[in-house]
Amino acid sequence: RNGGLLLAIETSCDETSVAVVRGGREVLSNVVSSQIDTHRKFGGVVPEIASRKHVETMTIILEEAVREADVRLEDIDAVAVTQGPGLIGALLVGVVAAKSLALALDVPLIGTHHIAGHIYANSLIGDILYPSVALVVSGGHTEIVLLEEEGKFRIVGRTRDDAVGEAYDKVARALQFPYPGGPHVDKLAQEATEEVALPRSWLEPDSYDFSFSGLKSAVLAEINRSRMKGETPDFSALARGFQQSVIDVVTGKAIRAAKEFGARQMMLCGGVAANRGLRERLAALCEEAGVPLLVPPNKLCTDNAAMIAAAADLKWRRGQFSSLDLKAEAVMSL
Ligand code: KG4
Ligand code: ZN
Repeated sequence: RNGGLLLAIETSCDETSVAVVRGGREVLSNVVSSQIDTHRKFGGVVPEIASRKHVETMTIILEEAVREADVRLEDIDAVAVTQGPGLIGALLVGVVAAKSLALALDVPLIGTHHIAGHIYANSLIGDILYPSVALVVSGGHTEIVLLEEEGKFRIVGRTRDDAVGEAYDKVARALQFPYPGGPHVDKLAQEATEEVALPRSWLEPDSYDFSFSGLKSAVLAEINRSRMKGETPDFSALARGFQQSVIDVVTGKAIRAAKEFGARQMMLCGGVAANRGLRERLAALCEEAGVPLLVPPNKLCTDNAAMIAAAADLKWRRGQFSSLDLKAEAVMSL
């Protein structure tokens, strides 16, 4: 496997991505084609359109990734693919493409979990020390994952309703931003001078779970209250209040988990890891607690195939291959 070439495919949501990674670490190419412009006019991802777009784009992105990596398709030693979780029709496109390639090239196929990918994106930028705590925050997921050793995942906390990114996108819509609104809310919150006080949902004192639907409703209620009084809602103060509540809770719980489980490292991952306020607060808390923090660059935080290659590499090392009857799984445990 040493120095072997892994080609990875990711199509779980609205990004078609193909990467070529050497030795599990060296990213030779990581091509991402986003469908955001297509979905924006619907205010969110439309599953059927996503699948069709993946079909249209797959071979083009595949060729581009191989060309950019400056390798030949025949040089590929293994093929990895996101098996789940995600939109079933979207996943199927990647799975069929990966199986066809593995069969044609006569190389092993490695089915991979999407969240393992988000977490192991960190292995592309540094060495992971165990035990490690990962804070996974994306449009579809909000989880605190304990990794006692390499490849061994234990979810200690998860959202009971909306994912963080989903809450950002819903609040953004109320603040009249286009989809996906997370980055807009982040920017507005950074620029704000005032802050509307909003609730923090800590749940049971010992729980690592999350809930964001109450916070989202609180933002909507504030907007309605202002309008009823004939006032213009202060969007930037609301964005800041929302962002502060989210950051307090997610970083507070993640750091408590790191302490409880004696983590030697914290990892931040998923699309919302691009949030500047979140990065800064977590970095400060980790420094205070003496726990080193790994955060991938933005391109490796949002959905991409290099992270799938990184997670698949663990399985490759152990010879954990998938058979050609691998099935895409909309819901899949880590
Ligand atoms: O990981 P990702 O690319 O896709 C999923 O697997 O879900 O995450 C996308 C999510 C979207 O909800 C988007 O609004 C959010 O990440 N996001 C942000 C920021 N950048 C992206 N949320 C808050 N602040 C940001 N700077
Ligand atoms: Zn994702």
